[in-house]
Amino acid sequence: MNVVCIGGGYVGCVTAVSFAVLGTKTTIVDINEEKINLLNSGKAPIYEPGIEQLIKQTIGNMLFATTEYDCIKEADIIFICVETPTASDGSADLSRVKKAAFEIGRNINKTKFTVIVNKSTVPVGTGDVVFAIIAEASGLKPDKDFAVVSNPEFLREGSALRDVFFPDRIVVGTNNQIAEEIMKKLYEPIVTRKNYSQLSAQYFYLKQYASDKYPIYFSTDVKTAEMIKYTANAFLAVKVSFINEIAMLCEKLGINVLEVAKGIGLDSRIGEKFLEVSPGWQGTCFPKDTSELYLTSKRYNQELTILKAAIDANWAMHRYVVEKIVNFLGCLNGKTIGILGLTFKPDTDDARRTQAQFIIPHLLSLGARIRVFDPQGMEMFKRFNPHLDIVYCNKGEDVAYMADCILLLTHWQEFKSLNWREMYRILKTPYILDARNFLSRSELEEAGFYYHGLGVGKNSGRPGR
Ligand code: UDX
Repeated sequence: MNVVCIGGGYVGCVTAVSFAVLGTKTTIVDINEEKINLLNSGKAPIYEPGIEQLIKQTIGNMLFATTEYDCIKEADIIFICVETPTASDGSADLSRVKKAAFEIGRNINKTKFTVIVNKSTVPVGTGDVVFAIIAEASGLKPDKDFAVVSNPEFLREGSALRDVFFPDRIVVGTNNQIAEEIMKKLYEPIVTRKNYSQLSAQYFYLKQYASDKYPIYFSTDVKTAEMIKYTANAFLAVKVSFINEIAMLCEKLGINVLEVAKGIGLDSRIGEKFLEVSPGWQGTCFPKDTSELYLTSKRYNQELTILKAAIDANWAMHRYVVEKIVNFLGCLNGKTIGILGLTFKPDTDDARRTQAQFIIPHLLSLGARIRVFDPQGMEMFKRFNPHLDIVYCNKGEDVAYMADCILLLTHWQEFKSLNWREMYRILKTPYILDARNFLSRSELEEAGFYYHGLGVGKNSGRPGR
């Protein structure tokens, strides 16, 4: 089989590399020449742990990259993996998906059956739109000459390779029997892990997370698959917002939310994942997907009120972080806040839409001075927020210089091993707000810090210096 992925971004790269590793000839097409040149020289155009090594191992033999659409002619399966950013009205912008569909229609091989797969996150009904564009641009008969399938991605940034090789489930929505067979064949190596032991000698990722739990291949129709993607992300966002609200209440009650989360997570109906208290959720998926789904519900006069509450609670959580600092420090005018973490979560350089992007302007508006550090996200954060008057530090410890508060927003593992004693020495007020409940409270308190988490019970008193 011959696969083409349109779009060499996050989803396109991860998808293409995984099929190449599993022995399917795969070509990435992207209009961005820089990305294609990077790929062809064995480099990753995205930051994702482990991916560069797999690109190096496959490029030129199973993986190919080009800016030309004519490779579509060779394809049995074409994945649409382009961005669907949020438009100004909050809905998903489908212009890139439509352009990809048009190029497919213009270049599709008219002598064989082709499967077009929508992997981009798209509103319910987009499968029909793609279908119509390809039919018009190619003059082919839908369902007889080609089929459009919905196969949403469930890749978490930072653990995308794990998610692609060892997924919980693979959702494939199609109304076409031939397409269904082709998709089953494509995913067979992942569903059965047939050649994993053989291939793992070459590709370390295939054995890293090996577990006994095999993925479920879930077949459904196109619209249901599209809806599953939105519902999954909305549900996870609700889950995080829910525990975040509980955390705020726990704080008032003097109860530790970590114990509460553990106690409820042990119930298999609830599950322990996505109960980590945070300064709210962000990233490239949750905000745009919750926004689009909520708008859809309004459009159909069936408002998703729980989803709306989760979105509102998320903004409240961003504000709560600032309120906690104000409660402790009083007026922030002229005070210095040292921020650790600019990405929306650890193990990614993705700083396009992050908690820090909302919390920092709020702190600045209250007169605070801001010093920041992130192991991977500084460059992107700066690029997306050129207007912010903040100091970018060379190492984590430096955010503490003359600071009145250290605010941890992203739980990068390496923050645990910062030289906290040195930080204590150079800061002004030894106050830490750990908005991920991640650092060791006892060690920090022992070192003289005044430690606050979110919802972790009574806050310790101001230490004498
Ligand atoms: C998400 C979905 O998980 C993935 O399946 C989908 O395909 C793409 O969107 P991603 O955005 O990479 O993946 O990150 P995820 O790990 O889901 O985290 C989303 C946000 O929720 C982050 O800001 C994270 O910090 C926050 N979060 C997550 C919490 O605040 N608490 C948690 O317990 C889990």
